[in-house]
Amino acid sequence: MRTVFVNGEYLPETEATVSIFDRGFLMADGVYEVTSVLDGKLIDFDGHLARLERSLAELDMGKPDAFDDLLEIHRELVRVNGIDEGLVYLQVTRGAAADRDFAFPDPDEVRPTLVLFTQSKPGLADSAQAKQGIKVISIDDIRWGRRDIKTTQLLYPSMGKMMAKAAGADDAWMVEDGKVTEGTSNNAYIVTGNRIVTRHLTNDILHGITRAAVLRFAREAQMEVEERGFTIEEAKAADEAFVTSASTFVMPVVEIDGQRLGDGTPGPVARRLREIYLEESRKAAI
Ligand code: PDD
Repeated sequence: MRTVFVNGEYLPETEATVSIFDRGFLMADGVYEVTSVLDGKLIDFDGHLARLERSLAELDMGKPDAFDDLLEIHRELVRVNGIDEGLVYLQVTRGAAADRDFAFPDPDEVRPTLVLFTQSKPGLADSAQAKQGIKVISIDDIRWGRRDIKTTQLLYPSMGKMMAKAAGADDAWMVEDGKVTEGTSNNAYIVTGNRIVTRHLTNDILHGITRAAVLRFAREAQMEVEERGFTIEEAKAADEAFVTSASTFVMPVVEIDGQRLGDGTPGPVARRLREIYLEESRKAAI
């Protein structure tokens, strides 16, 4: 039985509740973060906290009361739940007003809801899937226009995952105006020769915390990085591809829309970047 955190209290998961009037439930009026845990320590925590603060500000949502204690709460949940490898999920919503209403409630009267829980994932770093690589399909990107804000509006990404499964693949890459935006829950990259290409940062994609670290490590390792959109045709013709996120780190992609990349096994750039990312982020974990 997990211990979770809800609005200031550590509780057994079965006793933790949120109102049916919570705007997270009624309106998907919420934002979230997922921070990975390796060796019982938090990876890229400062980046996740900074992005959370930005998401809240962009939506004019107040900070939860415990905002300044978030590092301590993350650490306490990791400790009491004995997490060695896994994730900490955090969600903030605009809270529960007295009734359903499209207008935002008065922030002085309705406080944001804050929920955190851990997910134990042994083998997250030494992942069998990372050794094999994943298969992706392409789908239309029909999400809203502010994908830079990490909201809990995850129905379409969830449908995308199901479309991928139905096609015998692992994930979907979303395409808008002919160019790949990102994966359902990760940033997307292709590699040709020594050059890594990934979409530039705008409101069209989430500004991945793992992306920022991986691109920094790639540049430090003298790899060439180009931040621009790319087509599915270009991706299919690439030497290799991969995705990044807090839950997968660097995950090689070996097939796109049924087309194998290279020899159909994880490429050297993706493997090397996964190694560097794991090594460096373990060192910097808090
Ligand atoms: N997803 N793009 C999207 C749409 C995402 O949902 C995520 C993260 C990323 C990668 O961001 P980061 O490197 O900061 O994790 C990119 C998380 C892991 C999730 O929804 O579970």
